Amino acid sequence: MQKGHSAVVTGLGAWLPPRVVGNDELAQRLDTSDEWIRSRTGIRERRIADPDTSTVDMAVHAGGNALRSAGSDVVDALVLATSTADQLCPASAPQVASGLGLSGIAALDVNAVCSGFVYALATAGGLIAAGTADRVLVIGADVFSRLCDPQDRGTLPIFGDGAGAVVLRRGSADEPGAIGPFDLHSDGELADLLIVPAGGAKQRESADPHDYFLTMQGTTVFRHACARMAESARTVLDRAGLEVGDVDRFVGHQANLRILQATAKQLGLPQDRVVANIGHAGNTSAASIPLALADACDDGSLQPGHRVLMAAFGAGLTWGSTLLSWPDVKPG
Ligand code: UT7
Repeated sequence: MQKGHSAVVTGLGAWLPPRVVGNDELAQRLDTSDEWIRSRTGIRERRIADPDTSTVDMAVHAGGNALRSAGSDVVDALVLATSTADQLCPASAPQVASGLGLSGIAALDVNAVCSGFVYALATAGGLIAAGTADRVLVIGADVFSRLCDPQDRGTLPIFGDGAGAVVLRRGSADEPGAIGPFDLHSDGELADLLIVPAGGAKQRESADPHDYFLTMQGTTVFRHACARMAESARTVLDRAGLEVGDVDRFVGHQANLRILQATAKQLGLPQDRVVANIGHAGNTSAASIPLALADACDDGSLQPGHRVLMAAFGAGLTWGSTLLSWPDVKPG
């Protein structure tokens, strides 16, 4: 991005549904155990949205908190990263904008599943770099508990619901909070590894009720996640002229604690630089990176001036990464 046209973080917000579901509660319904879930994923509990709470509702909460953190509700555009939009059509972003009292602004959904937040940051950064917008609200929100088969121990224990958001403003590349460069990728040949086969526009109905739920080839996805996030992180560091040793905090997509640790190991990054909030939030898909940023701010492990490496991987397949030095911003 040119100097003078960078997207700079100026607000941060998070929102989790109040209902806590611990591993023991799941173990009463599924053939699993607290010990298995903790040791294989690092998850102790997750938040689950009640039936009346939708992705739009969660996004409005997190977006409102981010606008409060920014100290202004003036934005020209809203980019919502989600793959659990309230409806197949239309996009949810306009309803989120209206819910925040921002009817009239540009609003669009970005669906890159668990990589959605990094893709949405790049989209918003592009709007700012092109001069189309001066300030953009970027929200990641997902309610994956609705897509998981209640009987599937391979997916249900992993996912949680939630939303996180940042406000970006136009600024310069050398100031704290400036985002970039980016590295983004996809591989649709591997879409079947993580997919909800039915219910979309291609196959509206299926005789098999399982086709309406998320199916995941977990171990294969695990291996791709570590390799692709490490590869992308190296690319983005090269582009920025930085070394792995320059990274203070690694805020990766929170899919599995072992994925975060293995990716850090592949990169040669010390484990104490890994930010992990998956223990209490689970995998919240597009919300996971901003939720992890907010938790790290709250517990003091993320400080102004820290160089942050963000990397994500998700269904599609999609993956990508970006960098920023953390500004003097606290969650709203
Ligand atoms: O969000 C972005 C995309 N998603 C991801 O990145 C998720 C990536 N995948 C993973 O995180 C892991 O693959 C899982 C957590 C889903 C599974 O962990 P794993 O270490 O890959 O386990 P596995 O699927 O290889 O299964 C190992 C064993 C199997 O039993 P056998 O065949 O060894 O007897 C499974 O049947 O564990 C069994 N198992 C379980 N046992 C108790 C699988 N799920 C469970 C469970 N509770 N919930």
